[in-house]
Amino acid sequence: MQLIALKKTWSTVKFNEVDILYAVFKAYPDIMAKFPQFAGKDLDSIKDSAAFATHATRIVSFLSEVISLAGSDANIPAIQNLAKELATSHKPRGVSKDQFTEFRTALFTYLKAHINFDGPTETAWTLALDTTYAMLFSAM
Ligand code: HEM
Repeated sequence: MQLIALKKTWSTVKFNEVDILYAVFKAYPDIMAKFPQFAGKDLDSIKDSAAFATHATRIVSFLSEVISLAGSDANIPAIQNLAKELATSHKPRGVSKDQFTEFRTALFTYLKAHINFDGPTETAWTLALDTTYAMLFSAM
């Protein structure tokens, strides 16, 4: 079942928070540049800092929350609220739809490289990301 594939594969990488944020910043320095405490710094030198770990955990925990809610119609309003919160908190920071799409691309590339991405797993991830991003973009 697709939902099981989604949750199972996420559980194998969800503790790689620092690695995931590193992959996102490495692929898209424009995302890193939006973080006041990281802008202009060398990615490899900040990767092991406490501030980096804190942010990585915040972002990855958000994804874990959405994934834990996925699969039940009763949870759709809760997921919509999370998407709205993300849109509202990031708008004043000047985060664009293009940057959110970059984040998605980097995350997807990371997943493909680190989990067994067979057909049903890829479909499950695409569907989950499509759905969440539609909610996010409609709130922006
Ligand atoms: C916080 C930028 C995507 C989740 C932040 C902060 C910045 C930022 C500048 C504030 C850091 C601080 O206060 O020190 C960006 C940019 C993104 C992006 C440029 C481009 C794609 C995401 C995504 C998620 C996310 C996709 C979730 C999966 C969070 C969370 C926080 C945060 C949970 C901390 C709570 C908050 O202040 O809203 N982000 N972010 N961000 N971001 Fe993002």
